Amino acid sequence: MNSISYQAPSNIALVKYWGKQGNQLPLNPSISFTLSACRTETKMALSEKIESGMDVELYFEGKRNEVFERKIIAFFQKLEGDFPFLREHKMVIHSSNTFPHSSGIASSASSMAALAMCLCGIEGGEVDLKKASYIARLGSGSACRSVYPQIAVWGKNNTISNSSDEYAIPYAEEMDEVFHSFCDTILIASSGEKSVSSRAGHALMDTNRFAKQRFAQANENLIDLIGAMREGDIERFGEIVEEEALTLHALMMTSSPSFILMKPATLLMIDEIRKFREDTKHPVYFTLDAGPNIHLLYPASILSAISPWIDEKLKPLCENGIMIKDQVGHGPSTI
Ligand code: PMV
Repeated sequence: MNSISYQAPSNIALVKYWGKQGNQLPLNPSISFTLSACRTETKMALSEKIESGMDVELYFEGKRNEVFERKIIAFFQKLEGDFPFLREHKMVIHSSNTFPHSSGIASSASSMAALAMCLCGIEGGEVDLKKASYIARLGSGSACRSVYPQIAVWGKNNTISNSSDEYAIPYAEEMDEVFHSFCDTILIASSGEKSVSSRAGHALMDTNRFAKQRFAQANENLIDLIGAMREGDIERFGEIVEEEALTLHALMMTSSPSFILMKPATLLMIDEIRKFREDTKHPVYFTLDAGPNIHLLYPASILSAISPWIDEKLKPLCENGIMIKDQVGHGPSTI
């Protein structure tokens, strides 16, 4: 095969990975929903090699992008042992995202998962998802969860058999069906570039005075959350997920130096979500990734009942009214 195309989705963590060691290994386990609408589409074509050394051309959204190209070359150099063809061919890669540039949504998980699927698929045969997850992890930690449908767990926890720091494992089968189609409306509080990158944020966990307690909390929350999701207990699910989101941002605030990625609109949205939940008893919850945007999580069954509220109260809080309607999805596929 000399050309292959894959789409891979983004994912949103429910129990957060924050802090790493060694070669992109997590300091605590995490669990995520695989999304659907926020995806990267990647085409990789191999041809005869002209230049000596690693020969890669990278086009992002149709335009050659030399910054991304250098990153990919550095990544591929680490993978020469796994994929000998990387040394033997010229590679032309075209990549694009389905979500708007201006949304502030990180694309590292979907792009690294799509690239890992291409690398694992180009030699033919069915892709070994465990290997794709391992390769994606080396590109961007949380990307390793994006290769599986619906729900994935990454990181060693002694009570979860087969769990590993090296790759994620699929976890949807274990869960109540309500979570197989959960909705995630992403509310864009700000699309500006983050003041502190995820890479720098992870590194600050090495000296955070709450790190030890945090890693213990993540392990406990993971087990509690899995229990709640197995039982279809949406209320307990929501409590844990919100605690995780706020803990993540509390860790940022208690890092040294401290930083804050939430924006005023983030807090207004959280207030509105909690007030609406209190008033109506609708099971709407929020989470955040390492940025200011809110992921509004709710079962698909209440979508039409809560849509007027989203449009009336939450949309006006979004930057330029931008929201992305996403949902738990089926993972990568060829295109
Ligand atoms: O994979 P990274 O290095 O972009 O880190 C992701 C960190 C969080 O999104 C905040 C949490 C997570 O588990 O995805």
